[in-house]
Amino acid sequence: MTEHIVYTKDGAIASIRFNRPEKKNAITGEMYQAIVDALADAAADADVRAVAILGGDAFTAGNDIGDFIAAGGAPSNDLPVIKMLRALIAFPKPLVAGVKGVAVGVGTTLLMHCDAVVAGHSARFSLPFVKLGLVPEAASSLLFPLIAGRMRASWLMLSGEQFSVDEAKELGLITRVTEDKDVDGAVAMMCGILAELPPNALTTTKRLLKAHFAPAVDEAMDREITEFFAALQSNEARAAFMKFMSR
Ligand code: COA
Repeated sequence: MTEHIVYTKDGAIASIRFNRPEKKNAITGEMYQAIVDALADAAADADVRAVAILGGDAFTAGNDIGDFIAAGGAPSNDLPVIKMLRALIAFPKPLVAGVKGVAVGVGTTLLMHCDAVVAGHSARFSLPFVKLGLVPEAASSLLFPLIAGRMRASWLMLSGEQFSVDEAKELGLITRVTEDKDVDGAVAMMCGILAELPPNALTTTKRLLKAHFAPAVDEAMDREITEFFAALQSNEARAAFMKFMSR
């Protein structure tokens, strides 16, 4: 249990909210596990028809860098981050995210597994894996080129350059842009629309939309996990983490 993830249900809509504002919602192992538990509950609860993923003034600054420093050993399917990514990929019901402020690393890659994304004008996206001596995760090395086109994905993934809400919309990463104050309401409204629809047709359609790419997504995840864990131990990554921690 952690207070850094808040899971609530309101009728047919469940919400998972990042709640670690003092650290820009950087995600720890405990937080990944809390999301796994929330997704399992939402999947099993027949009353839940759609799930919102929300932050605060920041969506999330990505994986907690202190946790990266502490990480050791071989990748394991029992690691909370890997369980969370697999749960997100397999989640059968619609997922709608609402982004304000920074969405760094996994904060951007998790959006690629959502069914709709609302972003406020303050939203800023980045995939700074290479800058950190790391490589992409969450099957984003497959999904981002599919969403944005290979050349555009290459630049943003290689350079780690931050991109704006307008660029994200143009790339096809987000569905709607609103004022920041309206993000949560727009997510609730879209979840409400989905929650009213016939649930079997809805979940079957989601499954069909993803079916063609599902084996490739699993393969990309496996490839990335191997490279990611090797990179985590590298001098390049260690130096980048220490630089961040000693700012
Ligand atoms: N892991 C751990 N702590 C983090 C964090 C992260 N990913 N991101 C932010 N924090 C912490 C900061 O260390 C700071 O803590 P402190 O107040 O105890 O010093 C606090 O959150 C606020 O962050 P700060 O950097 O002061 O805010 P900012 O608005 O100037 O910058 C970011 C926000 C997100 C641009 C910046 O914090 C950042 O680059 N974070 C790292 C993002 C990252 O590389 N994530 C990993 C992706 S794979």
